[in-house]
Amino acid sequence: MSDTEFGRILMTGAAGGVGTFLRAGLAELGWQVRGFDLVTPDEPGTTEWVVGDVGDAAALDAAMRDVDVVIHLAGIPVEDRFERILKSNIDGTYQVFDAAVRAGVPRILTASSNHAVGYHERADYRDAPIGVDVRPRPDTYYGVSKVFMEAIGSFYADRHGMQVVCVRIGSCFEEPKSIRMLDTWLSPADATRLFHALATAPEVGYEIVYGISANKTAWWDLEPARRLGYEPQDDSDVFAEKVEAAAGGAPDPADPEFRYLGGRFTMAVPPED
Ligand SMILES: NC(=O)c1ccc[n+]([C@@H]2O[C@H](COP(=O)([O-])OP(=O)(O)OC[C@H]3O[C@@H](n4cnc5c(N)ncnc54)[C@H](O)[C@@H]3O)[C@@H](O)[C@H]2O)c1
Repeated sequence: MSDTEFGRILMTGAAGGVGTFLRAGLAELGWQVRGFDLVTPDEPGTTEWVVGDVGDAAALDAAMRDVDVVIHLAGIPVEDRFERILKSNIDGTYQVFDAAVRAGVPRILTASSNHAVGYHERADYRDAPIGVDVRPRPDTYYGVSKVFMEAIGSFYADRHGMQVVCVRIGSCFEEPKSIRMLDTWLSPADATRLFHALATAPEVGYEIVYGISANKTAWWDLEPARRLGYEPQDDSDVFAEKVEAAAGGAPDPADPEFRYLGGRFTMAVPPED
């Protein structure tokens, strides 16, 4: 345990979009944040920094020292060729979980994705929100890697007694950029609230939660996150007029963007190169 209010977080992928929001937000709340990434950001701020690859077990062992919670964000965040997803997202996630066990870190919060269940259809969830217990329906190799993440999280919770929360993040950006994102938006401030709640929740075994703000149009069940102490404060509705005007019309329900939970990822193909 570090001498800050809550302890030390090791955050993989800390230089990325979500990491940049979280490391500032969590440090402000009183966490000591140790970033771990292939690159150093322009402004690490007060964060301790380790340049390393999540495929490198020795680098992870060194980075896990005196860590209370791991937040695992590192990886490829979009569709890609399977070999690259395998290395960064599947082997990388295995390495992070395994290093956490070796170091005796009790809790991992890990960035899963809506794309682990992206082929579920909105039309089937008109009467009740989609739960976290629906069967995996990945929409890409990327989504498959998130199903793996949820599976190894479950395995390590059962086998090693780790406390694991897999967060199926929606769309974590400053503002929603499309009509779909009015449903899926996770504001940077709510992202901080969510990960702080999950890091401090007293009773955690193995959990999957959806990570979105309190969006009026959301059709994903937020109760599992609320049960762990998450109290979202933001609602994408404040951007609705702007986003709808830019979209220039009502969404077509047959468009994969609106039909499927994963939106256009259901049409994504890996790049050729
Ligand atoms: N942004 C979103 O809305 C969203 C939605 C769902 C899930 N997620 C997940 O959240 C995580 C972060 O997403 P993001 O949008 O910040 O992506 P990002 O690409 O901005 O950040 C990912 C970071 O991981 C680092 N990284 C990649 N491979 C690495 C490796 N092998 N070793 C060490 N570091 C490595 C990159 O350098 C980068 O800084 C990802 O796992 C992504 O799948 C994000």
